[in-house]
Amino acid sequence: MTSEDIRQRFLDFFEQRGHKIIPSASLVPSDYGDNGTLFTTAGMQPLIPYLLGKPHPAGTRIADVQKCLRTIDIDDVGDNRHNTFFEMLGNWSLGDYFKKESIPWSFDFLTNKEYGLGLDPARFYVTVFAGTKEIPRDEGSIKIWQEVFTKYDLTNKVAGEDEMFKDGVRIIPLGVDDNFWIAGDTGPCGGDTEIFYDTQPEKGAPIGKFNNLVESFRLIEVWNNVFMEFNKTPEGKYEPLAAKNVDTGMGLERTTAVVNGQDNIFATDLFAPILSEIKQQVANFDEKASRIVADHVRTAVFMIADGVVPSNTDRGYILRRIIRRAVRFADQMQADTEVARKVAEVVIEKYKKVYPELEKNRDKILAELNKEEEKFRKTLAQGLKEFEKNQDPFDLYQTFGFPIELTEELAKERGLTIDRQKFDEQMAKHQEISKAGSEQKFKGGLAGHSDQTVKYHTATHLLHSALRQVLGKDVGQKGSNITDERLRFDFAYPTKLTDKEKAEVEKIVNDNISADLLVCRIELTKDEAEKTGALHFFGEKYGDNVSIYYIGDGIEDAVSKEFCGGPHVENTGALGRFKITKEEATSAGVRRIKAILE
Ligand code: ALA
Repeated sequence: MTSEDIRQRFLDFFEQRGHKIIPSASLVPSDYGDNGTLFTTAGMQPLIPYLLGKPHPAGTRIADVQKCLRTIDIDDVGDNRHNTFFEMLGNWSLGDYFKKESIPWSFDFLTNKEYGLGLDPARFYVTVFAGTKEIPRDEGSIKIWQEVFTKYDLTNKVAGEDEMFKDGVRIIPLGVDDNFWIAGDTGPCGGDTEIFYDTQPEKGAPIGKFNNLVESFRLIEVWNNVFMEFNKTPEGKYEPLAAKNVDTGMGLERTTAVVNGQDNIFATDLFAPILSEIKQQVANFDEKASRIVADHVRTAVFMIADGVVPSNTDRGYILRRIIRRAVRFADQMQADTEVARKVAEVVIEKYKKVYPELEKNRDKILAELNKEEEKFRKTLAQGLKEFEKNQDPFDLYQTFGFPIELTEELAKERGLTIDRQKFDEQMAKHQEISKAGSEQKFKGGLAGHSDQTVKYHTATHLLHSALRQVLGKDVGQKGSNITDERLRFDFAYPTKLTDKEKAEVEKIVNDNISADLLVCRIELTKDEAEKTGALHFFGEKYGDNVSIYYIGDGIEDAVSKEFCGGPHVENTGALGRFKITKEEATSAGVRRIKAILE
């Protein structure tokens, strides 16, 4: 059975049971409940307001296939079951049905040969919520499962506190860590029952501790039914919900694997064409590395289609890390250049029917992947050389834009360890310095240190570099003055700027703002500093050590680098829109620009 068949059967099954089918929401949470996650991590997330009581326009029974992204397991990707991006099949009751309907439906769908997945009933085992001091054990679900198993002529014993399989045990009660579900830190939540499939029935009935059988990959979780009865408040209180809900989630990748008797998700039709493309693109194929490339490129394609672009913060940083990881693992297999783009073409082809946004954003997806791959290869070449000489993760971060995770991986590959704590401390200090910029050597015409003047200061650096790009390298700074309301920048140039030139300068500055570039400070000796090509200021005397601010991933291809004492914003994305309000002469050969941030 193909993944397409499974999606369709799932939606048909629930449609026939009164559910309305809704489309997948974006991977980027937008106007629905903000529970602190950067991405949509589960099918229930876009439904949070409705799980909390708001009436859903589609009614009280809903089903869908939702795009999800979880990076928490990124280091496990490459084994037989972990992904960063995945599709979750889900059905919801918003104050409508509860355990009595939900559990038997799940089992019917999994096992029915005609309209379901036709899986062998005898190969299923389930966990249920064992309760806490305040919340009782889920006796309701236990009873319903026992009835279901009896109907199928199966054993139905409940495990004791030892969580062991013995004497016909099929139901295992587990505590909060395993069987209580919440997305993020707050919001609708409740105990759940998870359904596992035995991938090695030839070994006979499972024996031993439940978790060992999961860890050894014998039992694989395919479906989770959450019975939402509480709302966890920001203060950590569990308030009962006005109406009880059901939230279920079944991973399409895992389900496709077990339905087809495959022992890993990468063997399914969801990945097969992607992996065969990777095979063609590399000289030294490696199973694990190719799985990582396949997973990460697929994830990046879906992220970009939903509007994320690589940057140094939040979602953009995660995307950057995922693309860079994909390129690194592709390179371990001696990949061709533009490998991310080539693999992405196959991802788009495979998924475009179900997710038309991929086709719609095809050009953007491919361009962003190529751009990031190229940028990374440049950085990597410089950084790897540096890494062999100097494994200080903070230096690598500051000078070459190496994400700490990448340095950690490089170190691991070489059997080295790095001092993460020291890095975190240096990073915190660096952020402090960029923010406060307290001990300044150079005031740069700054009136004060309000947030707004700091923004204008960074915008001045971007303006300076844009002017040099548009008007030529002879444009030199003659003066700068900043207030809370505007920046003023004087520079050497013989003639009035045309409207076109002004528009170009504005565009360059705004593009650099949209790219949300990192603003970094580095301290070097004066000789070293001069070698970086950073701009100096007129007649300024510098000490032995100078501070340079550069904007971009690494100092080599920074869009701006200047000798400067700060302070600056941490990311250009904080600036808002840049607009030139005036351009005039101040004296012969000197022009003055006034500009604002909107
Ligand atoms: N929200 C539940 C999960 O993601 C179904 O596992």
